[in-house]
Amino acid sequence: MANDEVQAPVNTGRRRFLTATTAVVGAVGAGFAAVPFIKSWNPSARAKLAGAPVTADISALQEGQRLILEWRGQPIWIVKRSKAVLDALPTLDGHLRDPKSENADQQPEYVRQANPELRSLKPEISVLVGLCTHLGCSPEMAAEIKPEPYDPDWKGGYFCPCHKSRFDMAGRVFQGVPAPTNLVVPPHHYVDDGTIVIGVDPSNGTGA
Ligand code: FES
Repeated sequence: MANDEVQAPVNTGRRRFLTATTAVVGAVGAGFAAVPFIKSWNPSARAKLAGAPVTADISALQEGQRLILEWRGQPIWIVKRSKAVLDALPTLDGHLRDPKSENADQQPEYVRQANPELRSLKPEISVLVGLCTHLGCSPEMAAEIKPEPYDPDWKGGYFCPCHKSRFDMAGRVFQGVPAPTNLVVPPHHYVDDGTIVIGVDPSNGTGA
């Protein structure tokens, strides 16, 4: 487990898959951010196999932090982005393969309509399936805006070490890397301001 990754409290009973990763975005010297108390209500193992929705309280999620859930056997990343990261995203469009999220397979239509560049219902909250669209490795989050060995002008994003694909903080893939498409945004909606449900389309009540 990396220094900036903290295992969230685990309740007894059903197996939980919940970690909170802290990466302070654009806050040099801020040190470790407090790990929020994050509740989730995961379904039983049998229900999870069937793809039951997963609900989580994200009200305590801080900027730069990532909550990782499991849905349909896939890691789901919920990341709170800073204003600096959000402001940087449109500046990357010229370097991306699908900056306006035109590949309809990679996100629900209501997410694209909400904002095709941010790829999220709430500007600051990004929800992604954490699997590289090349061969399925789990990319690393490098959320800080700072030079990286693979990009001296890095604006924060995800780097897949398997074959060096890069994605921005909206999960949009860069040009010239093996991954062909943006990371997938799963169906999701908000029950209230701080409660998210993964796996349910708000328009028709399904996870399709
Ligand atoms: S699996 Fe990510 S670049 Fe190949």
